Amino acid sequence: MATGNIQWNNMIRLKHSLYLLFLLLTALTGCGIEQPGTSQENGQETQLEDAKVLVACFSFTGTTKTAATTLSGLSNGTLYLIEPEMPYGSENSNYYDQSTRAYQEQYGPASARPAIKKTLDNADSYDIVLLGFPIWYGKAPRVVFSFLDAYSFKGKSVIPFITSGSTGISSAASELKSTYKDINWKTGDRLNGKSSEQLKTWLESLGIKVK
Ligand SMILES: Cc1cc2nc3c(=O)[nH]c(=O)nc-3n(C[C@H](O)[C@H](O)[C@H](O)COP(=O)(O)O)c2cc1C
Repeated sequence: MATGNIQWNNMIRLKHSLYLLFLLLTALTGCGIEQPGTSQENGQETQLEDAKVLVACFSFTGTTKTAATTLSGLSNGTLYLIEPEMPYGSENSNYYDQSTRAYQEQYGPASARPAIKKTLDNADSYDIVLLGFPIWYGKAPRVVFSFLDAYSFKGKSVIPFITSGSTGISSAASELKSTYKDINWKTGDRLNGKSSEQLKTWLESLGIKVK
């Protein structure tokens, strides 16, 4: 009986030791699972809470810029406006007009990259990029692609956000994702009409520290 108890106790001790070893290995390796609120970059884990945030935005009539300005204030991020070298004239507001530059670019070759002013310093110092733009004909304006071509955000967390008349973000987001496969794309959102409080909640849901 006593020998049986000793064997049983040894079994329990062995089970505990194996369990502790398992916990230790899981903690050390992380099992390759990316936790919410973290981002893997060059093998190093950045807590999104401590992350340096860039809010980059193209805006034609100011709606997306308003959301971007609020987001940069809330996240203590740097606001950067993506500016085409040749600004879009007001005639582009008439999106039924097929002769406009905006229409031609959006329906022309997907490789179109209108020149932008390259004035962003230390682009690679940012951990997270909130990337805002208006929907143009269902997609991201081509200047947004020019921006992503001009700076490398390989391995960075990029979160797209849009404003639009009614179109959602999914088509634009999937085109960006399939064009820039080495970016760590996060699910974005359409931010029309969102209050500062709602934008704060949105940032928090992404694991971004809010002021
Ligand atoms: C050239 C052009 C194309 C547009 N295409 C769409 C569209 O496909 N779907 C939509 O819902 N809104 C469309 N809009 C409306 C804009 O997405 C919307 O007004 C947006 O909020 C403008 O943002 P901004 O002021 O930052 O430029 C289009 C606007 C323009 C000027």
